[in-house]
Amino acid sequence: MNTRAPAVEARQLIKTYPGDVTALSGMDITVEPGTVFGLLGPNGAGKSTTVKILTTLARPDSGTATVAGHDVLRHPDRVRRAIGVVAQSSGADPVATGRENLRLQGRLHGLKGAGLSRRVAELLDRFKLADAAGRQVKGYSGGMRRRLDVALGLVHRPEVLFLDEPTTGLDPEARTAMWDEIARLAGDEGLTILLTTHYLEEADRLAERIAIVDRGRVVVEGTPDGLKGELRGDAIHLELREAVGQAGRTLLKGSLGGVPGVHEVLFDDAQGRRVSVRADDGAAAMPALLGALERAGVGVAAATVARPSLDDVYLRHAGRRYSEAEAEGADSLALAGATGGTR
Ligand SMILES: Nc1ncnc2c1ncn2[C@@H]1O[C@H](COP(=O)(O)OP(=O)(O)O)[C@@H](O)[C@H]1O
Ligand SMILES: [Mg+2]
Repeated sequence: MNTRAPAVEARQLIKTYPGDVTALSGMDITVEPGTVFGLLGPNGAGKSTTVKILTTLARPDSGTATVAGHDVLRHPDRVRRAIGVVAQSSGADPVATGRENLRLQGRLHGLKGAGLSRRVAELLDRFKLADAAGRQVKGYSGGMRRRLDVALGLVHRPEVLFLDEPTTGLDPEARTAMWDEIARLAGDEGLTILLTTHYLEEADRLAERIAIVDRGRVVVEGTPDGLKGELRGDAIHLELREAVGQAGRTLLKGSLGGVPGVHEVLFDDAQGRRVSVRADDGAAAMPALLGALERAGVGVAAATVARPSLDDVYLRHAGRRYSEAEAEGADSLALAGATGGTR
């Protein structure tokens, strides 16, 4: 394979599920070889659908994709040999032991004899599962299961590893351990990792480049620092005591926007109770902002100043707050009666 070609390239992927659910509405992704790429988005954004198409488990309605230089539709077998997949829900057999799971997976990929035993021992060791290797997987903790899932995905030394929500459902301690694990993998020679997550912090921490996905397409892409750096100044979040109607919002946008050093005012919820302001110096602008609200007769329940976060990046590009998009995604999943979308 030409090492300069992208490890993953998706162009204008579109996918609609029965019932007129648009999962992907023109997904574009390019992942350079040897990098960790994060697909970040709320529940229902289309992350798992993208992974399923790239790993040949689903077909797009239209669009093209290559993985490790192979076309996913024309050469799915070649793609499968080149990739490792850790799906959102575990693929390990719960009544088999960790070692048995790994040996079976290795045999499926054509390993045998001493080579197979060596590879299995190496992975058990590397993922701190050697002591538990002879125990049934159903007795493993969530973190151990997830480490086994990743080990299973690596048995045949893939070029590209897909991790779909590797830490969803893990407790904070196991999540931190998994982050260390992924960071270590990323240091492995040549391995390309595409991970999906709905945790802003996880993408920020692990991925060299991030594509923020909303409603089936990428709304913005870049390095975590680059994306945050695009937002000038500080983020000020104001929570109002009462909802403000449409007319009031327009007035407030005018008066808050007139405060020196302020360059953006956004109502970021449907109820009109939360306002996001961008200012060169958040602390300096705060008294004038509070004064303007007081003169307008609007009570303030809470006010915070922070450096821009990925949450602010999301708000800027998707037009709503990340937590709201998450809640909306959860609603639509429930309405669609979908199961297994999130764990
Ligand atoms: N098998 C399916 N049948 C119908 N709708 C689906 C199916 N899988 C996913 N969807 C819908 O497609 C959208 C994207 O889902 P998904 O790719 O799982 O998002 P994410 O992984 O980002 O949470 C959601 O609205 C979801 O309800
Ligand atoms: Mg998913």
